Amino acid sequence: MSRIDEATRDALLAAARGARAQAHAPYSRFAVGAAVLDEQGRIHAGCNVENAAYPQGWCAETSALAAMVGAGGRQVRAVAVCAESDQPVTPCGGCRQKLREFAADDCPVWAGNAAGLRAMHTLGELLPASFGPHHLPAPNPPTP
Ligand code: THU
Repeated sequence: MSRIDEATRDALLAAARGARAQAHAPYSRFAVGAAVLDEQGRIHAGCNVENAAYPQGWCAETSALAAMVGAGGRQVRAVAVCAESDQPVTPCGGCRQKLREFAADDCPVWAGNAAGLRAMHTLGELLPASFGPHHLPAPNPPTP
């Protein structure tokens, strides 16, 4: 992995913060924003989207990944999550696995809040000894 410069990290955190402002979280009242940096250097952001049928809601990281895939991105080089909590907020277990589909073990995952960066982990630290695409036979070529 090439090291990601501070300006890009801050841009990613800012994108996550901006997306958080759009969160639809009337049930938990816990707004989250996330942003991913793709292999083209583009930033894709998203927020959590809750649902009156509670389990049908989804996380900010999932929204950010969907935005990336919809825009043609296929690799995640870095992740930022923004929320307000006593402890820095890292992706939930399900989102760690979703990120794993597109990101390597050394991918940085930054946790921030309105004031800035609070914690940094790699995806490999958050999801050690993970199951991933490399466990499966070579996938079919991408659909046109
Ligand atoms: N949530 C996220 O969007 N990302 C995280 O990393 C942690 C949790 C959302 C899910 C739910 O809408 C709310 O936060 C409370 O769990």
